[in-house]
Amino acid sequence: MRDAYIVTSIRTPGCKRSKGAFKDTRPEDLLSFILNAVVEKTKGLEKKDVEDIMIGCSFPEAEQGLNIGRIASQIAGFPMDVTGATVNRFCASGLEAIAQSALRVMSGWSDIVIGGGLESMTYVPLGGNLPRPHPEYTQKMADLYASMGITAENVANRYDVSRQAQDEFAYQSQRKAAEAKNKKLFKEIVATPATRYSVQKDGTYKKETFLQDYDDGIREDTTLEGLANLNPVFAAGGSVTAGNSSQMTDGAAASVIMSEGKLKALGVKPVAKFKFYTTVGCKPDEMGIGPALAIPKLMKLAGMDLKDIGLFEINEAFASQALYCIDKLGIDQQKVNIHGGAIALGHPLGCTGAKLCATLLSNMQQRGVKYGVESMCVGGGMGAAALLELIE
Ligand SMILES: CC(C)(COP(=O)(O)OP(=O)(O)OC[C@H]1O[C@@H](n2cnc3c(N)ncnc32)[C@H](O)[C@@H]1OP(=O)(O)O)[C@@H](O)C(=O)NCCC(=O)NCCS
Repeated sequence: MRDAYIVTSIRTPGCKRSKGAFKDTRPEDLLSFILNAVVEKTKGLEKKDVEDIMIGCSFPEAEQGLNIGRIASQIAGFPMDVTGATVNRFCASGLEAIAQSALRVMSGWSDIVIGGGLESMTYVPLGGNLPRPHPEYTQKMADLYASMGITAENVANRYDVSRQAQDEFAYQSQRKAAEAKNKKLFKEIVATPATRYSVQKDGTYKKETFLQDYDDGIREDTTLEGLANLNPVFAAGGSVTAGNSSQMTDGAAASVIMSEGKLKALGVKPVAKFKFYTTVGCKPDEMGIGPALAIPKLMKLAGMDLKDIGLFEINEAFASQALYCIDKLGIDQQKVNIHGGAIALGHPLGCTGAKLCATLLSNMQQRGVKYGVESMCVGGGMGAAALLELIE
């Protein structure tokens, strides 16, 4: 198999569902912007050179529905013969899209593919607009449709992850994110046009555009006391709160993936190799343990050991599950989510895998780390993980 190189990997800021900067920005606009930006940032690349665009989206319906990969690429002005697809593996969708793009390059079927992700949780809510679980099957396997918050409670209860430990983890996520924001370390963010509607004197609304260049969910004033005072939101007497859960967020991200031949032809310098990707299933009612299964499977596939990995991005769907996975694998917390995770920065479902790829690569470059792992749990009971190798 050939190598697949990631040349550029970027993201929009992550902004709070319904309250944040992108609440009036249509998902097609977020995605077409980041697709344009990723081409612009790849000097030597033209839109006509791209063969396919694969976009992860967890709830591909309504404004982000039909085939958003194709629609947004046409809005972005890619030529008609550049194709587009939508990929869904819930919270791993963005990573799945990048992995499928990399596979296309590795197999020799394509030379340049864009993989990315999108979710507007403002426009399309978690669970979709009209969930329709199978009437008979739900009686046998209701857990397949379980609330993600309940699965987080299950992990906390079954594996003894205390409320205090969850809150401490959430506090650290907020602290690290605030510090990284203040030091301007989120180099992978591209300032993104956002829409707002302002009321005019005559009572009509005017559509305006402003630039958003930071993640607006970070709560710099978070304290352990403040977190401890929050009530559980998913189960009476439970431990999962608004403070130790991932935030619901709007965002988009994209990566350009190329073969070695095209790197040379276009004179482009790659950032990393996309080395390995794997997925694994687990019980749906404790889907949060996914990374604890997927990461060892990835290491076996790569013939590597966890101690070879310099940095991890493990999605913080909930503090209970992220903490369980980190402890179970015995990973040094100093190597995980060094600029905070989804508790502070948000988890725009189908975008997250592509967003974490951009963040991980930026952090690997900043720290000079050769091997990085990205992983997440996935609704329905799965884990996904990928290995990236920085090009010196
Ligand atoms: C938990 C959840 C229901 C909370 O939703 P929400 O009420 O919209 O959350 P918010 O972030 O607006 O927080 C609500 C309140 O909690 C409090 N709060 C949240 N974070 C806090 C913190 N770090 N410190 C102190 N208080 C905090 C605040 O009072 C806040 O209200 P405010 O914004 O008006 O100050 C929602 O974030 C959720 O469902 N998350 C999980 C999403 C999910 O399942 N994703 C898939 C995973 S697989």
